[in-house]
Amino acid sequence: MLPGKRILLIISGGIAAYKSLDLIRHLREHGAFVRCIVTESATQFVTPLSVSALSGDKVYRDLFSLTDEAEMGHIQLSRDADLVVVAPATANILAKMAQGVGDDLATTTLLATDKDIMVAPAMNVRMWEHPATQNNISILKSREVIFIGPTEGKMACGEFGEGRMAEPAGISDAIDDYFHAYAPLAGRHAIVTSGPTHEAIDPVRYIANRSSGKQGHAIASALAARGARTTLVTGPTHEPNPAGVKIVRIESAQDMLNAVLASLPADMAICAAAVADWRPEKIDDRKMKKRDHTTAASLNILENPDILRTLADSADRRPHLVVGFAAETNDIIENAVTKRDYKGCDWIIANDVSSGTNTFGSDENKVHFITENVIEDWPLLAKTGVADRLVDRITEHFKTFARAAE
Ligand code: C5P
Repeated sequence: MLPGKRILLIISGGIAAYKSLDLIRHLREHGAFVRCIVTESATQFVTPLSVSALSGDKVYRDLFSLTDEAEMGHIQLSRDADLVVVAPATANILAKMAQGVGDDLATTTLLATDKDIMVAPAMNVRMWEHPATQNNISILKSREVIFIGPTEGKMACGEFGEGRMAEPAGISDAIDDYFHAYAPLAGRHAIVTSGPTHEAIDPVRYIANRSSGKQGHAIASALAARGARTTLVTGPTHEPNPAGVKIVRIESAQDMLNAVLASLPADMAICAAAVADWRPEKIDDRKMKKRDHTTAASLNILENPDILRTLADSADRRPHLVVGFAAETNDIIENAVTKRDYKGCDWIIANDVSSGTNTFGSDENKVHFITENVIEDWPLLAKTGVADRLVDRITEHFKTFARAAE
């Protein structure tokens, strides 16, 4: 499961830090990209040079280093990973994490991350058993930090007990299990379009539609929750920003197309936006006057670019999976099947937006899932439920694709 997965490994200062070198080797052998942050005390146990040589990347260590922050700030460091692993995790770093202390690059990155965190504690048995440490562990577990080990055994200090860091192969297996279970789309890039577009007539008026963006935003959120790096290109909506998603806000269809093309390459594109089909030929730079009947009474309109079709047709840059939506008022399935062909997309989600269905703006959606080979009627579901089912299908699809590529 590790090819292409990006792991941010934080090495804190314990004697077990030497084992992290072996962990880096394991992870890279399994195809992962490993980027490392070392704490100041970790550098007493392993040299940044060895870490860098094994990870094949620059090693990050200083919060205030201008080059580090200019090239790759702590926010970027944590966002660019699929999983953050702290190994070894000392009692000190666990305490800082539990209390939200950010006094160096490692702890600030841990505060800033929107990714899951896995820790492999390593410390003396008495430090491990200390109520303060146990209390910090409970706090971190309640925040869903994943613990690997520690194991029981003879310690570097000569004592025997719980507190030894799990072996690198065990940590690597746990990371593999994590990606199987929680983040099957890690390492994949998804572009999602959502919301309406606004096509300006003059500085105050525009052509728009009733799309709320709820469905597209729910899909972006579900993709990010499965570990996909997700770019949401959205028209104006009142929906809150989904967590862990890169948001690109646009107004018009042309802007949406530009933003989508600029976000390529991607493994998948889910076009859930209700893109306006037309735009006024000319945008008045001054507010049009009611009195001025000749211009106000008629608008010359031009057809907007079809983003879904452009993506599906973009030869070498085509995302592997392109999914469209078909909002229909009648002959829903027939129209959607024809639309799948015409647009050149792989799958289409058809929904009934005839008057009375209240799909726009509502929290629920009744859809049909259409591929080359299947037409399925899904029950009435919350839009988040439609998103989860769709992302289940996407996950299955990429699993099969990955197996075929092996
Ligand atoms: O042609 P129609 O608007 O019915 O097609 C709907 C599908 O095409 C949706 O997936 C929508 O996001 C996408 N679309 C697009 N660009 C357009 C029009 C529609 O991406 N200009």
